[in-house]
Amino acid sequence: MAILRNKLRPFSIACFVGLAGFVALAACLGYGQTKDTCLDCHSALPDPLGVSQEKFSQDIHAQMGLTCASCHGGDPTSDDPDKAMSRKAGWKGKIDRKRIPELCGSCHSDPAYIRRFNPSLRTDQLGQYHTSVHGKRLVAGDTKVAVCTDCHSVHDLRAPSDPRSTVNPVNVANTCARCHADASYMKEYSIPTDQFAKYSTSVHHQALTVRGDLSAPTCTTCHGNHGAAPPGVDRVENVCSNCHTFQAQMYEKSSHKEAFQSASLPGCVVCHSNHAIVHPTDAKLGAGPEGVCMRCHTPGDSCDQARVALLISLGRLDEAIKSADQVLHVAESSGMEVSEARLGQDQARDSLTKARVTIHSFRQDLVDQDIQAGLKIAAQNLRAGKAAMVERNHRRLGLGISLIAVGIVLAGLWLYIKKIES
Ligand code: HEC
Ligand code: HEC
Ligand code: HEC
Ligand code: HEC
Ligand code: HEC
Ligand code: HEC
Ligand code: HEC
Ligand code: HEC
Ligand code: HEC
Repeated sequence: MAILRNKLRPFSIACFVGLAGFVALAACLGYGQTKDTCLDCHSALPDPLGVSQEKFSQDIHAQMGLTCASCHGGDPTSDDPDKAMSRKAGWKGKIDRKRIPELCGSCHSDPAYIRRFNPSLRTDQLGQYHTSVHGKRLVAGDTKVAVCTDCHSVHDLRAPSDPRSTVNPVNVANTCARCHADASYMKEYSIPTDQFAKYSTSVHHQALTVRGDLSAPTCTTCHGNHGAAPPGVDRVENVCSNCHTFQAQMYEKSSHKEAFQSASLPGCVVCHSNHAIVHPTDAKLGAGPEGVCMRCHTPGDSCDQARVALLISLGRLDEAIKSADQVLHVAESSGMEVSEARLGQDQARDSLTKARVTIHSFRQDLVDQDIQAGLKIAAQNLRAGKAAMVERNHRRLGLGISLIAVGIVLAGLWLYIKKIES
């Protein structure tokens, strides 16, 4: 019996150790992960130490199963603050602003790690950030620039696609404005603080925020989210071509392109500005306050003459369309069938729109092609309208004559009746 017990002892010890190990492992894998003393304790603390359950449950990291300790380190199974927040357990303490990009990058620059959660998520944010003015200045010791959490927030950080995210396209401008529109925060820098105010007046802001057109740019569309410029663009000023491809193609053909480049002038921005871009009209070609050409060209020189000629061409087509419109309108409201010509007017208008795009070649011959095409269509439509009016006049004449004839017959009839009666 004793021998048997002695023989079994190592066995039972092994069993006990095995069981204990299993329990410990289970605690680590299962129970240990749900127990989060960091959150338990901190959700009861006042600001700035407090992080409420409610707030943290909104955070994409919490939703992916990450915990306080994933970023801050420490032992989330211990109720004893000295043990939970011990450096031995890897606790990092409050994260210094300067170290935030490296912290975020420790996961977000690791493709193997990120792929486990979301294979399509980019992993270049930290690398890109280092190329931006923000990133460069941070490395040089300026902690007032934006770090990851300034744009993304912290503890309730949401995916950009969430409309409540600070980096959702509709919220980005406000996020940047927190610093860039704050004159006292930015006073030690030499840059203006009017970008947000100006952008708020622009067609782009109007399209994006008021009309909900997500194809219009916000701050980060032009400036890049993380890098110095968006992907595929070497300099911010070249970003316009990404969307306004037709204007850009025409601009490529102009002598402005070369001339501006060699004078280090920022292309499209020279005539349209960067932040306060408004809807342009023909007045931009004029010599008035809205005009841009005479900032550089001298009255009477060949470029000024070209400017006047372009303006006259646009004016001619505009007038031609308007007079055809007028005649067609009268014809239609007097019941004539002119729907085909009315539809044709849209083609003429398209030619005018095209001419205003072709303006960017600043070449009369190219603009004239669109103008001539438009003039031809407008003239056709005008003829159709006029023909309809002639037809209407004929019909009216015919109607008048037949009315008179009927009147005469009626009068004769009346006289005849009178005569019989008497
Ligand atoms: C029993 C309560 C308690 C627990 C458990 C606890 N903390 Fe704290 N924590 C505090 C208190 C109180 C402070 C502020 C006093 C201090 O700095 O020690 C603090 C401070 C911090 C700070 C900020 C330090 C600073 O200087 O601003 C961080 C970050 C932090 N805790 C993270 C954690 C993490 C991560 C865990 C879990 C691994 C954790 N805490 C667990 C109570 C707790
Ligand atoms: C995704 C990473 C991440 C997670 C997860 C995270 N934190 Fe933080 N936490 C940070 C960063 C970064 C800062 C520094 C923010 C700053 O300075 O802008 C910070 C700051 C803090 C501070 C200091 C606040 C202050 O202003 O002094 C406390 C306390 C804190 N976190 C506690 C927690 C607790 C508790 C949890 C879990 C409920 C948690 N954190 C989860 C990244 C994280
Ligand atoms: C411990 C690793 C880890 C750390 C540290 C970390 N993250 Fe994350 N982050 C993740 C994971 C995992 C996801 C979920 C990816 C997914 O499913 O899209 C995520 C998601 C995100 C997303 C949403 C991406 C999307 O579009 O779905 C953003 C934005 C983000 N993190 C920013 C940050 C910032 C800013 C910091 C630093 C304060 C940070 N992360 C620190 C692991 C981490
Ligand atoms: C100047 C503001 C700003 C800073 C600083 C910033 N981000 Fe972002 N980040 C954005 C914007 C805006 C988006 C949203 C892009 C979009 O609309 O899809 C974004 C998107 C992301 C995404 C989602 C995937 C992607 O690349 O689109 C992750 C992850 C992310 N950022 C992590 C980081 C990390 C890590 C840092 C710090 C190294 C950081 N960000 C710094 C503004 C910023
Ligand atoms: C936490 C404050 C803060 C936030 C938020 C912030 N920035 Fe900045 N940014 C700065 C500071 C400070 C500078 C350095 C100023 C300088 O370059 O002289 C800077 C520099 C810049 C520059 C370079 C200016 C130049 O020509 O020198 C650009 C462009 C810029 N930020 C764009 C943005 C955009 C876009 C956003 C929003 C997505 C943003 N910033 C959010 C603080 C911030
Ligand atoms: C349509 C594109 C576009 C949009 C949208 C845009 N910017 Fe700019 N921004 C530019 C260009 C182009 C420049 C001038 C070139 C450069 O400095 O790199 C510039 C310059 C800047 C500068 C440098 C200082 C200055 O004013 O010249 C800052 C800072 C800046 N922008 C911030 C912002 C902020 C913040 C927003 C959003 C409120 C914004 N930008 C929206 C294109 C844009
Ligand atoms: C992300 C795409 C995008 C970028 C980049 C962009 N734009 Fe736009 N732009 C738009 C959209 C969308 C509209 C709105 C068109 C509308 O009103 O229907 C617009 C409108 C305009 C208009 C007014 C057009 C009109 O007929 O009223 C001008 C001018 C303009 N942009 C110039 C620029 C310049 C200059 C830049 C570069 C500094 C630029 N855009 C960068 C998308 C973009
Ligand atoms: C030398 C001045 C100048 C430059 C440079 C310039 N534009 Fe224009 N842009 C104009 C003028 C003038 C008009 C107005 C045409 C009209 O309505 O008569 C205009 C009109 C526009 C319009 C709205 C009308 C339309 O349908 O075409 C857009 C969009 C536009 N420009 C974008 C750009 C882009 C993108 C660039 C750079 C590739 C650029 N512009 C470069 C002078 C310029
Ligand atoms: C920032 C200064 C600047 C602005 C603004 C400007 N130009 Fe120019 N333009 C130049 C320069 C420089 C050249 C090339 C040198 C030259 O031919 O004079 C040029 C060339 C031209 C040419 C071509 C001359 C040729 O023989 O190829 C025409 C036409 C022209 N500009 C018309 C205009 C019109 C129209 C506007 C207004 C919408 C305008 N420019 C706005 C500076 C400018």
